[in-house]
Amino acid sequence: MSTRPRISARISAISESATLAVDAKAKAMKAAGRPVIGFGAGEPDFPTPGYIVEAAVEAARDPRNHKYTPAGGLPELKQAIAAKTRRDSGYSVEPSQVLVTNGGKQAVYEAFATLLDPGDEVLVVAPYWTTYPEAIKLAGGVQVDVVTDESTGYLASVEQLEAARTERTKVLLFVSPSNPTGAVYSREETVAIGRWAAEHGLWVVTDEIYEHLVYGGTEFTSIATAVPELGDRVVILNGVAKTYAMTGWRVGWLIGPSDVVKAATNLQSHATSNVANVSQIAALAAVSGDLSAVAEMRTAFDRRRQTMVRMLNEIPGVFCPEPKGAFYAYPSVKELVGKELRGRRPGSSAELAELILEEAEVAVVPGEAFGTPGYFRLSYALGDDDLVEGVSRLAKLLSEAH
Ligand SMILES: Cc1ncc(COP(=O)(O)O)c(C=O)c1O
Repeated sequence: MSTRPRISARISAISESATLAVDAKAKAMKAAGRPVIGFGAGEPDFPTPGYIVEAAVEAARDPRNHKYTPAGGLPELKQAIAAKTRRDSGYSVEPSQVLVTNGGKQAVYEAFATLLDPGDEVLVVAPYWTTYPEAIKLAGGVQVDVVTDESTGYLASVEQLEAARTERTKVLLFVSPSNPTGAVYSREETVAIGRWAAEHGLWVVTDEIYEHLVYGGTEFTSIATAVPELGDRVVILNGVAKTYAMTGWRVGWLIGPSDVVKAATNLQSHATSNVANVSQIAALAAVSGDLSAVAEMRTAFDRRRQTMVRMLNEIPGVFCPEPKGAFYAYPSVKELVGKELRGRRPGSSAELAELILEEAEVAVVPGEAFGTPGYFRLSYALGDDDLVEGVSRLAKLLSEAH
């Protein structure tokens, strides 16, 4: 019998997605009849707009869409994504610089697989979205955390980034608006960071998937446009999931210099080939249409955001800076960790989140999932009534801590 491990070292090092795990546990409890309120989900609670669904229904009936199409995406979709990028980010690209991927997640994976050699370092601002570390690790890259906290609204400074830079640094990952914190860099901050990256010859991988979900007077700034000095060392990741409530359709994209896009397309041609044609045509309807659907969602999210932040900040021991974008709040619960609650003494935010799920039937994702213990991530992409009920339950339970 071979003594070689059954699972490769590379794959066994991947952890389960903590956000999906919390969501799965909450859904299982719900299915068992318990009135769980889930703040774990990373998706809009709205259905995909009707005109997008209609385009897909029509596409499914066309036999041309029953066949393989170019691995890198339908030419008309690549064209529309290039036009949309010009419209929304002011960034001019050729359709040949676009690769259509199976959701933003595949774009994340392929960007790092294409750019990194073993040992290359990537600067990642923590708290960070759970998928980045795994994609970087799978590519043989080394993640270097730049840790931020609530005192700066989870924004990293050039000084912090510079302190983390070494000779091995190849890529800065720039995510604004951020999952999990909702932090959004101003134009000035974006320019300062981009210029610093350009000065040191770094690549910037920028995830713009939440570009249209910003609130109040906050504006989204694309680092690719704001910092022309970056030249062709920019890779933009994006997708239809959040803007058009299309998480289940699995369409994202990667935009970059032609050599990077060509190499990433070669990878995709062997891994997954073309994204499902029906989904690509739905995405074509989405990106070629207007932004009225996301404007409606934004109004609802903004209302819920304000309610959630106000209610969270009323709970003793909880502090939540105002998120400016995406649909997450990221409060600190550091003061509550280690306190006694219902006869137990949770020693970490993960243990506290577990206790909350059991005792209050409320699901939150602990900060451990995002590289910063001592915090919770709560999505406000759920109905207003559930939101108020869920945070009220949280407040009632946590006020018993002593
Ligand atoms: C920051 C960020 N980027 C990318 C994605 C990928 O989304 P999808 O693969 O559904 O397109 C997500 C989803 O949660 C995200 O939060």
